[in-house]
Amino acid sequence: MRPFASSSSSSRPAILLLIASNLLALLPSSSASRLDTQSAARRAALEERGEVLGSATSPRRRASTGYNDPTSNGGYMLTIVNGTYPAGLGEPLNVILSANSDKDVLVKSTDNGGFLNYMLSTQLGEECLGQHLGSDQEANLGDGQGNVTEIEELRWNYGNPYVGTCEETFNGGLHLRYWTQNTTGAYFLAVSVEKDLAAGHDIVVDGYNVGRDYLVGNLTGTTVPSRNVTNQTTYSGSTTYNNYTYQTDVQYVSGLLQNTSNGINHYLTVQTSQYPAIDGLVAVLTVKITSRPKTSSAIARFADVPALALVTPLVLGGIMSLI
Ligand SMILES: *[C@@H]1O[C@H](CO)[C@@H](O)[C@H](O)[C@H]1NC(C)=O
Ligand SMILES: *[C@@H]1O[C@H](CO)[C@@H](O)[C@H](O)[C@H]1NC(C)=O
Ligand SMILES: *[C@@H]1O[C@H](CO)[C@@H](O)[C@H](O)[C@H]1NC(C)=O
Ligand SMILES: *[C@@H]1O[C@H](CO)[C@@H](O)[C@H](O)[C@H]1NC(C)=O
Ligand SMILES: *[C@@H]1O[C@H](CO)[C@@H](O)[C@H](O)[C@H]1NC(C)=O
Ligand SMILES: *[C@@H]1O[C@H](CO)[C@@H](O)[C@H](O)[C@H]1NC(C)=O
Ligand SMILES: *[C@@H]1O[C@H](CO)[C@@H](O)[C@H](O)[C@H]1NC(C)=O
Ligand SMILES: *[C@@H]1O[C@H](CO)[C@@H](O)[C@H](O)[C@H]1NC(C)=O
Repeated sequence: MRPFASSSSSSRPAILLLIASNLLALLPSSSASRLDTQSAARRAALEERGEVLGSATSPRRRASTGYNDPTSNGGYMLTIVNGTYPAGLGEPLNVILSANSDKDVLVKSTDNGGFLNYMLSTQLGEECLGQHLGSDQEANLGDGQGNVTEIEELRWNYGNPYVGTCEETFNGGLHLRYWTQNTTGAYFLAVSVEKDLAAGHDIVVDGYNVGRDYLVGNLTGTTVPSRNVTNQTTYSGSTTYNNYTYQTDVQYVSGLLQNTSNGINHYLTVQTSQYPAIDGLVAVLTVKITSRPKTSSAIARFADVPALALVTPLVLGGIMSLI
């Protein structure tokens, strides 16, 4: 079934795709998120064939930076943590995955090159055997959703995608919590390096800056000198997982967070006599998928949703006959 393959005009597939995605939105919600990724795959496949779809396929409002500053609309760049002493300390949202990234990367999925596959490309995985050990934090991204509990925690898997995050749980290391900004689709990550379980998962000295820079370093294949980064620093590099290759462009940005210890959770163990707990820089990632597994035909995967496989040829056939 390749309803678009014979079309020679570039606008017809675009129109059909828009109609098809509107139809998909009417399907039951249990299949909706899967269909999102499927239609994104179709879009990417069409783009690869040079059939560019134009701006009508990006209905979501979005700042040109690919994220909105939460503090400009009642939110915070620090997470909200229960039971800190003194009360009200938080952890910095020190990495942003910009909504200018490929749409497929902005979907929370291990399939189709989604966010979880991207994180596995840098050895960060979901928690040990599904056991969530840390306590949840909240964030308010200034997107009208108020204080929202983290989506989940990801932990460094020591090169073992199956049980490696268990090792992190006991030994400590690189980990992150993340949220998505409803108005833009950007991901906000609170990244840090923590001590082992016995030490109560405190954050190590300079653990926020270093956590951010380990993540950036792993994504770009560079060792980031944490004390030397500025708001002019950029890095670029690529990672691969499951035959998806991700090109990550990083820009360090000032002005979102402060260079300070004020309000920072675990500040006593993180700051040094010379430097405050955080340097105030946020690493903004813009990610493109530069190659995909050859065997994963977007059209074939589209058809493996049963309801859709039945409905689509009929509906599209009907539409084609009208054009
Ligand atoms: C924070 O603590 C309050 C009161 O104990 C509880 O109701 C709330 O669920 C906690 N929030 C999180 C994110 O754990
Ligand atoms: C959201 O978190 C902020 C910061 O901790 C707090 O001041 C506010 O009361 C919280 N809002 C709600 C509705 O819980
Ligand atoms: C925004 O929130 C609404 C309702 O909670 C949800 O349906 C929608 O998918 C969210 N959009 C994004 C981009 O997160
Ligand atoms: C990648 O992350 C690990 C910690 O999880 C760290 O030991 C290593 O130095 C990082 N690599 C780079 C290039 O930053
Ligand atoms: C950091 O900057 C200092 C001063 O410019 C320089 O001497 C040092 O080599 C830099 N360190 C790294 C790791 O780039
Ligand atoms: C970069 O940081 C310097 C201070 O270190 C500041 O004066 C300048 O405005 C910042 N530039 C941008 C683009 O944020
Ligand atoms: C943060 O402040 C310290 C001094 O308190 C200074 O040495 C450092 O250069 C500042 N870092 C940035 C990124 O502005
Ligand atoms: C992934 O790449 C490897 C090596 O190039 C290849 O053997 C394998 O078949 C590919 N898998 C998929 C799903 O494309």
